[in-house]
Amino acid sequence: MARLDVTEVFHGILFPGHLHTQDSLQRALEFPFQDTDILIVSYPKSGTTWMQEIVTLISSRGDPHLSHTVPNWTRAPWLEQYYCADFLKASSSGPRVLTSHLPHHLLGPALQASNARVIYVSRNPKDVLVSFYHFHKMANFLPEAGSFPEFLDKFLESKLHYGSWFDHIKGWTNQAAALNLLHVTYEEMSMDLRGTLDRVSSFLQRPLLEDELNNCVKHCSFSSMKDNKMINYSLVPGEIMDHSKGSFMRTGQIGDWKNMFTKEQNQRFDSVFNSKMHDCTLEFVWEEEEEKGESR
Ligand code: A3P
Repeated sequence: MARLDVTEVFHGILFPGHLHTQDSLQRALEFPFQDTDILIVSYPKSGTTWMQEIVTLISSRGDPHLSHTVPNWTRAPWLEQYYCADFLKASSSGPRVLTSHLPHHLLGPALQASNARVIYVSRNPKDVLVSFYHFHKMANFLPEAGSFPEFLDKFLESKLHYGSWFDHIKGWTNQAAALNLLHVTYEEMSMDLRGTLDRVSSFLQRPLLEDELNNCVKHCSFSSMKDNKMINYSLVPGEIMDHSKGSFMRTGQIGDWKNMFTKEQNQRFDSVFNSKMHDCTLEFVWEEEEEKGESR
């Protein structure tokens, strides 16, 4: 199958060319944010789609109609992708929900003029890397994944599309106090979905009744989302995402990296991680609770 991996290089970062143009990327940097906007920001494979679903469900008070009838990229379009302006024009009432994978040093200045709510979603980088590796195999708009050791090197050297994971997380979380920003981790969504929904609904000033909260929990569980074609990317044509090579809703686990990393790869990762993150106080969850005590 022909690949679609045309690349746009913007401010030194690689982006998939079938979704991004120089113009669409530049327009994102000049986006006129409104105080009512909700912006979901993440490095790819950190739980972006999950948060899109959470925000949709909170906004509709647990009613799944929207999430069952409108694709996630229409109800929470990526700001930097070329179709964003058209989707925003077509969207109706309610606060705008936007998504972005851009790093803070590029998007931060546009946000400064507003009090838009930013939800930053992060995930432990070993699981991000493994999820991204599998995603490269099915996403024809990204370069060939290559071997896992090659992919791991590119992640550590910040040579993958969307730029450096290290710069992304440090850039956004260092600026949290200057922004109206809530930091949510994939691991907390996984270990305490109800508590996360509570935190996000408070941040959005959309307190939920018990029944509404129960419905949100039900509809944004892994099994519900896996079967929802508006969010599982099965609507994307096979020439863009080869569904025979994997599924977007893959494992949804914490600690899947242990199934891929060798001991040596793990040591190398830890050594690069420690040197690049020495100035960062964030703590990461590397494995499910019951597995703790095993090697990281
Ligand atoms: P895996 O590939 O590890 O399964 P993004 O939306 O940022 O691209 O992230 C995709 C990752 O989030 C995938 O991880 C996907 O399975 C996981 N994910 C999406 N919805 C989820 C949910 N409801 N529960 C757990 N994981 C979820």
